[in-house]
Amino acid sequence: MPPKPEILAAFEAAKGFMPLDEGLALHAAAEEAARLALPLLEVGTYCGRSTILLAAAAREAGVTAVTVDHHRGSEEQQPGWEYHDASLVDEAVGRMDTLPAFRRTLHQAGLEEHVVAIVGRSPLAASLWAAPLGLVFIDGGHTDEHATADYEGWVPHLAPGGLLVIHDVFPDPADGGQAPYRVYRRALESGEFTEVSVTRSLRVLRRVPVAA
Ligand SMILES: C[S@@+](CC[C@H](N)C(=O)[O-])C[C@H]1O[C@@H](n2cnc3c(N)ncnc32)[C@H](O)[C@@H]1O
Repeated sequence: MPPKPEILAAFEAAKGFMPLDEGLALHAAAEEAARLALPLLEVGTYCGRSTILLAAAAREAGVTAVTVDHHRGSEEQQPGWEYHDASLVDEAVGRMDTLPAFRRTLHQAGLEEHVVAIVGRSPLAASLWAAPLGLVFIDGGHTDEHATADYEGWVPHLAPGGLLVIHDVFPDPADGGQAPYRVYRRALESGEFTEVSVTRSLRVLRRVPVAA
């Protein structure tokens, strides 16, 4: 089922970079993965635009969405870079802080009860994590170092039959950075995943279920 109108309105109102068609594909993946009755995990909260969609699917299924971000912004979101938003700088410390905007987004969408937000570096959070996951959505740092660490840190926790979703996958370097594409290729070449859907730069893969 597509997200409810109030969820779509909250998604459209939130700051972020994900277009609607990719958001709908993410929501569909989250709905499907939530049937495994396991948490849905996002790397890269930013202001909560994509988190809303995971949380809405989690609420319907009675599971929890977990979202990880240090809230200091990725390289391309720093001052002077293409995706910088000066309104997200904490003047008191002189650095990006997307946590207040994220909390507002979640509150306005009425989804606070369904999300656990981890504020910190993704590899550190992953190193402390032990529970199986129904979905891993990788949309954090887009350098090879960060995308690889996200893959290596979180994918081992993805349950058989669970979904791996990767954002900003650009096979053609003219369209964007290659780190998410390399992680996507790595997942497919591992033989552990099959492709479920392609929506613009959003790829959904399924971890091959263990044979009975
Ligand atoms: C592209 S934005 C996420 C956009 C969000 N998923 C959306 O659709 O609105 C990437 C986010 O990843 C976070 N990030 C980058 N590297 C990180 C890391 N190593 N650990 C935690 N968060 C990280 C940044 O702070 C930034 O908020």
